[in-house]
Amino acid sequence: MRFSDPITPSATERAEATEIVRCTNFFLYRTTAKTVPGRDIAQGLARAFGLCRLDSNPMADDEGLSQVTVRTGEAKRYIPYTDRPIQWHTDGYYNAPDRQIRGFLLHCEQDAAEGGESRIMDHEIAYILLRERDPALVAALFHPEAMTVPANEIDGAELRSVRPGPVFSVDPASGALHMRYTARTRSIVWRDDPDVRAAAQALERLLDDPASPYVVRHRLEPGEGVVCNNVLHGRGAFRDDAARKRLVWRARSYDRIAFT
Ligand SMILES: [Fe+2]
Repeated sequence: MRFSDPITPSATERAEATEIVRCTNFFLYRTTAKTVPGRDIAQGLARAFGLCRLDSNPMADDEGLSQVTVRTGEAKRYIPYTDRPIQWHTDGYYNAPDRQIRGFLLHCEQDAAEGGESRIMDHEIAYILLRERDPALVAALFHPEAMTVPANEIDGAELRSVRPGPVFSVDPASGALHMRYTARTRSIVWRDDPDVRAAAQALERLLDDPASPYVVRHRLEPGEGVVCNNVLHGRGAFRDDAARKRLVWRARSYDRIAFT
């Protein structure tokens, strides 16, 4: 998508973008206004597409927008704020049930000197592919304790309690499929059940299939971004230099993209 006004898309542009979302759960966009700050674009587009209730986190500013960039200090504990690769996941898989992330926006203000490719797969496609292989696999991932994220503790202080939950669920408000997933193997406990283990392995294989026609790979350039219903995604490693330090604005929302 290209938006004539990077902050306030026209009704026609919004309708066109949401038509894409109906099919794929995400769209990529490009803006060309060099003078508009990236934060304003991220905030404007998030609101324009109905991502209004933003999830605050310690790395976000007062209005819930985060600068995803290589940081120092405490933030370095979290992979998004490093230059390391991020494995397949959906956002907020560690969040409490009442703070599930249903949509997010990423807006690239500055790309890295090298690397940082994004990869995206519609989570509904992942669901369909698994179900076609064996309905028992998706059934196993609907189990309310299919995937558990252990508590987050620093020096004995608990920052987040243990989070058991399903991988797949149906969002009660919209009736849409919701996915909670990470391909991380450390700090994740899969339910001790053969179907759950088989499903997790099958999911990993289909996401890592280099020939998959369903994986979109795109390196976000300055002015580009993605808006989605919390689809599966990951990021390649990158390298900054003095002139090109990667900066991506992120808005995570409890809302799904609103249709016009
Ligand atoms: Fe993410």
